[in-house]
Order: sequence, then structure tokens, then C-alpha cells
Amino acid sequence: MNQVIEFIKSDRLKEKPDLESLGFGKHFTDHMFILDYNKVQGWHSPRIVPFEPLVLSPSAMVFHYGQAIFEGLKAYKTNDGRTLLFRPDKNIERLNRSCERMCIPPIAPDLVLEAIVRLVEVERDWIPNKEGTSLYIRPFIIATEPYLGVRPASEYKFMIILSPVGAYYSGRQLVPVKIYVEDEYVRAVPGGVGHVKTSGNYAASLYAQKKAEELGYDQVLWLDGKENKYVEEVGSMNIFFKINGEVYTPKLNGSILSGITRDSVIQLVKDWGVPVHEERISIEDIFNAYKNGELEEVFGTGTAAVISPVGELKWNEHKMLLNNSETGEFSKKLYETITNIQYGKAEDKFGWTK
Ligand code: COI
Repeated sequence: MNQVIEFIKSDRLKEKPDLESLGFGKHFTDHMFILDYNKVQGWHSPRIVPFEPLVLSPSAMVFHYGQAIFEGLKAYKTNDGRTLLFRPDKNIERLNRSCERMCIPPIAPDLVLEAIVRLVEVERDWIPNKEGTSLYIRPFIIATEPYLGVRPASEYKFMIILSPVGAYYSGRQLVPVKIYVEDEYVRAVPGGVGHVKTSGNYAASLYAQKKAEELGYDQVLWLDGKENKYVEEVGSMNIFFKINGEVYTPKLNGSILSGITRDSVIQLVKDWGVPVHEERISIEDIFNAYKNGELEEVFGTGTAAVISPVGELKWNEHKMLLNNSETGEFSKKLYETITNIQYGKAEDKFGWTK
């Protein structure tokens, strides 16, 4: 059923932030999208309204049992003034996969896409046009039913908010990061929720992240939650290794998030004729490749940072220094190829932009 999106325009438009100091996720646009769910009406009342605080009961189930999921994607302004979205269909598919795992009713993909497109259109003047900037789109769902029993909620809110952003790491696009291989705390376990974008995964990562920072590192490299042996993710990104001219990334095993940038990198690298292996990779194998001089580059992939080169990996007493802590050529080429497609500067042979 087609639902008409109501629009209530804000009468207090905000001043746009300075593009030099955008950072990530600090500024929000004038409007937001809301869709409600209850058992009688299903998902209903789609609307774009002024961005303002929510009123929720303190007993709303999201506050107690964490039934919440989110997505992240970006809108880009091209040099000739068009607005491009990067693979929004993939985010919408993953949103509904996250819904299924977290017992949240799915939303019609067409309605989610229309909501994103309409909200971005309303806020088009907020899409920054400086290199390396974009409008970050954050769709999310929270359980709003006021109830303290543990079961899936019967009421939800789906919302979309927008934030003009620059580099994810303060002012440091493509600058290599120092990574601490975490061998005590884990991010996800087999059979758990690591493969979906639920808020609790990020809350669970904070303690190890804090520890890594205290030890002088930027991010954590997560090992598997069963044997503490196999590489899973880096910070909130997927991870790739270039070893002896070939590319390796952990196979999606049920505890790794299926990143859209991950998928795009795999497609691009294959297209360049470079072999890509999606397989189980132990940290020991990585260390051995390093010792043999075969570990050429390591990088994370994600929507926020796109490509994040790793300059140092610390695993127990071992320190692996990569590329003299400089950005590798392969990471740079991937970053440039993907962002050129995102900004409409290069041919989009995969049909990724919408
Ligand atoms: C991404 O870069 O894809 C992320 O998920 C990071 C986000 C949680 C800020």
C-alpha cells in the first residue's frame, strides 16, 4: 500500500555549520522522518517534521532491553549540482535483516527508500560540497512500547536523521591508524547478533576501545568470540589485508557485519583482476605474512571513513609496522575510486549510485 508522506516545515531554520570543522555526527539538519508502528495499524503515519527532541515514556522498552537497530549511508553533491546516494538498496535490505534478527517488524523497502529520498531532497541545501564531505543519513528503529516484561515490543518508531559530515577521524581522511589486537574482550559470538546493525554491538565495543585508547591506539582489531584466533572486524569496520599481491578479508561467518563498502571493495578489486579471498584468517597467519615481508597493506572499510589504512598492528608482544605508517598505494586507489564514483566524478559501471 502506498503511504503519503506528510510534510510539516520547520519555521526555525538553523544556521549551517562551517565546512572546515564539520567533524562527524555533530550537526543535524532542520527536519527528520518518522514512521510509527503498532499492532493494529502496522507501520503508519509517515511524516517529515522539524528536528526536535522526542517524548518517550521512561518505560519505553528500548531503554531497558536495547531493541534498537540502525543504518548509515551518505548523500553526495556532484559538481553539477546533482544529489547521489550510494547503494541505498543495500542498506535497506540490511535494515530489514537487522529487523528480523531483533524481532522488529520489517518495513516496505520502497517506503524506506522514498523516505530517504524525500528527506534528503527537503534538506538538499545541507549537503556540503567541499571535498571529503557528505550528508550522513542515519535511519534507525527503537522499541517505544511502555512495558517492562522481556519480549519483542508491540510499538516502534522508525526515524531518519541527517548530519553533514567531514572525516570520521577528526580531520584525518586516509591517515593510517594504530590498531590494538584485542585478545580478551570480544565483539560478537557465533549465533549472536554481530552480523546485524543493532545498537548493543556498539555499546559492547566501548570498553575494549577505551582500553586501546589508554594504551595509545586508535582502534581495536576484534578476534572471533570462540577461539580468540581469527580476525573479525576493526573498530566498527570490516578489515582487509593485501598479502603478496592478493587481497584477503574474513568470510561472513554470522558474527561479522556485511558491510556495503566491504562488498564494493570486493567487487572493485575483482574487477581490477586482483584475486580476492573471503576466508577464515588467523592473526597468526597475518603475523607470519608480516615476518615474511608479504603483508603489504591492511585497511578497514566502512561507510563513515570509506577506507581507513592501518599503519600499525599490535598483537601481544608483537608490533607490525606497515608501509612506514604511510598510506599504501592500494588503499589510496580504492579510496579514490570509490569516492570518485560517490561524487559522480567517475563512470559508475556497477550502477551503485542512485
Ligand atoms: C560505518 O562506518 O559503516 C559505521 O558503521 C560507523 C558508524 C557506526 C559511525
